[in-house]
Amino acid sequence: WPLLAPLIHAINKLKRERNAVVLAHNYMTPEIFHGVADIVGDSLQLAKEAARTDAEVIVQCGVHFMAETAKILSPEKTVLIPDSKAGCSLAESITAEDVRGLREKHPGVPIVTYVNTSAAVKAECDICCTSSNAVQVVESLNAPRVLLIPDQYLAANVARQTDVEVLTWAGACEVHERFTAEELREYREIEPAVKIIAHPECPPEVVDEADFSGSTAGMIDWVKTNLPEKVMLVTECSMADNIASETPGVDYVRPCNLCPHMKRITLSKILDALVEMKEEVTVDPEVADRARQAVERMIHLKS
Ligand code: 13P
Ligand code: SF4
Repeated sequence: WPLLAPLIHAINKLKRERNAVVLAHNYMTPEIFHGVADIVGDSLQLAKEAARTDAEVIVQCGVHFMAETAKILSPEKTVLIPDSKAGCSLAESITAEDVRGLREKHPGVPIVTYVNTSAAVKAECDICCTSSNAVQVVESLNAPRVLLIPDQYLAANVARQTDVEVLTWAGACEVHERFTAEELREYREIEPAVKIIAHPECPPEVVDEADFSGSTAGMIDWVKTNLPEKVMLVTECSMADNIASETPGVDYVRPCNLCPHMKRITLSKILDALVEMKEEVTVDPEVADRARQAVERMIHLKS
């Protein structure tokens, strides 16, 4: 911590000088989450915050599609990402051309894109969703059948909660698809009192083993509300580290998996980003206009 303190101090000082806000996803490491973030949250919370902040500069501590979403919603602001190589296996699984192909193959079927996609993909879709509102978005379309792309597992988990027929794409999150139902059953045998909560990017048979499933913010709320003696967060490892100090008495049982893309974001890269005002994220304005419609339709849905 003493080595981190000067970095944290320098970032917070520069943030004020640059009129910058640091938006950090729940998968950031604790020194980012607790040390320099102005706003933390799940994908939906961060998108909403990007749309309403008064800051001139947004430093997006998360992966590239999140920074693009911030730029789409705040085109007049400077959006920086501390490492532009921070990608996502879901966002990389589908292109705009793939979506145009789906439209041709399924004429008249509305296309819902998970927020974990590029701006170019969002621009081809009707509405966006996140893991915290996917069922609501699918049902809002009043259609008997929808395409929910690109996460096959999120789509399968949503399909079980609605009468709408849900078609999908073969994408997967490389962090969540690695969990297996068998390993969770083994943990329950060893620790019968453990509560298991899983992200909906996990395969349905993994979610079946869980006591609760929800977005990263939903998972945090569940732990803070229920304060279980032992809990396993079936998601990215930083989640438990970030909330451990606020949930005394809760024992976090591993396993968890690391997202190599999220872990590209470090304090020293955040400082560099603010010193050199890099790496700036840009989105073609015509693409951004179309993508914005999909994201704003989601944001303005009544909850
Ligand atoms: P949420 O924070 O919206 O649950 O998304 C998780 C995720 O994997 C983001 O990359
Ligand atoms: Fe993408 Fe999965 Fe990493 Fe989230 S955790 S950024 S969905 S690879």
